Amino acid sequence: MPTLADLQSAEPKLVMNTYARYPLQLVRGEGVHVYDETGKQYLDLLSGIGVSALGYGHPAITAAINAQAGTLLHTSNLFFHSGTTELALRLTEITGMDRVFLCNSGTEAWEAALKLARAHAGMLNAQGKKLGRRFLALESSFHGRTMGSVATTHKDAYRMPFQPVMPDVHFVPHNDVAALRAAFSEEVCGICIEVLQGEGGIHFVSAEFLAEARRLCDSTGALLLLDEIQSGMGRTGEWCAYQHFNVMPDITTLAKPLAGGIPVGAMLCTEAVAQAFTPGMHGTTFGGNPFACAVAIAVIDTIKGDDLLAHVSDVGGYFVDQLNGLASRHDIIAAVRGAGLMIGLELHSADAAGAVLEGMRDRGILLNRTHDTVLRFLPPYLIAREHVDQAVQALDALLQQHAPATQEAMTESQTTS
Ligand SMILES: Cc1ncc(COP(=O)(O)O)c(C=O)c1O
Repeated sequence: MPTLADLQSAEPKLVMNTYARYPLQLVRGEGVHVYDETGKQYLDLLSGIGVSALGYGHPAITAAINAQAGTLLHTSNLFFHSGTTELALRLTEITGMDRVFLCNSGTEAWEAALKLARAHAGMLNAQGKKLGRRFLALESSFHGRTMGSVATTHKDAYRMPFQPVMPDVHFVPHNDVAALRAAFSEEVCGICIEVLQGEGGIHFVSAEFLAEARRLCDSTGALLLLDEIQSGMGRTGEWCAYQHFNVMPDITTLAKPLAGGIPVGAMLCTEAVAQAFTPGMHGTTFGGNPFACAVAIAVIDTIKGDDLLAHVSDVGGYFVDQLNGLASRHDIIAAVRGAGLMIGLELHSADAAGAVLEGMRDRGILLNRTHDTVLRFLPPYLIAREHVDQAVQALDALLQQHAPATQEAMTESQTTS
């Protein structure tokens, strides 16, 4: 097997320069742990950025993969197969939506959502309305990397190098109801919201903002698009984060944990909105193939059968309580945010966040950070309180170790700026 050093020297010549990887080669996983080439065990509190919700080597996933691999992997979308209907039945039940489009990734699901919203505006206009084609999206949003998705993604570094991306997107400050009202008009065909922003630093939309977005959309026929690619599929203790609020979307999107590590995305919508797509308007070669459907069905049935939503709420609540306990002892902690097992621990210093992340890795615990200062926890749904205790003890020691130097740096930067 090539060593980490072999890969570090070969990749830069062979592979596009798109990722800054951690210095770690992962070779296998089991339960909530992954192992590097030396056999060192890591507690995985990131699950492949929110994907491996059932951990590694889960028997239900392995059985579904084996069974489907020996039966039928792919049909194209020119033919019927039962996986589409079986998965659609489950997805519509858990989301409260009526119809599904299956694809292969988060950005594809979001791209389908944007196209559907534009097509829906066209459909209404053909019936005598006068809706424009503008999207309102939120500051700090992340919706993916393809040209439409990235156009609704706020961070300049992701969007600006590729201009002109999809036109007519206006960004509104997060949770600023007055700004939302001011930006809304009949020019708008859709309002795009991550109910719980992930990449943006683990921030919930406020109930007031979400309700106002719903009301504004209802006033003109524009659509409310809720991106649940990171926060959906049980991650927050509900199937979708919008189920914590009394608001339903017109369109929602799911992906990351949907098939526990096999690439699948889904765009779901109401019956009325679904009318805007007719055959040929949108499609995909691989999307919704029998293999991906079988694995996604196994994931949903396991989450249901093992009552994992309740477990996510319970262990997630315990995790947040323990982190709040740390916050009462460490001034370097700026905030603890999140729901279920989508949790952010914001520090006052990016340097400290980087050092803590590295220290956790050295101690055999994996997580990542967003917005430089927010340590992000997206563990498999199977973690137990003892795993939380292990992480919190390690954090306690590392925060102690890195706080004093950082406090000085903070004071220095405040006095010099
Ligand atoms: C909220 C949200 N939307 C869309 C995406 C894009 O998903 P993918 O990377 O599968 O294209 C992500 C990925 O992190 C996400 O978190």
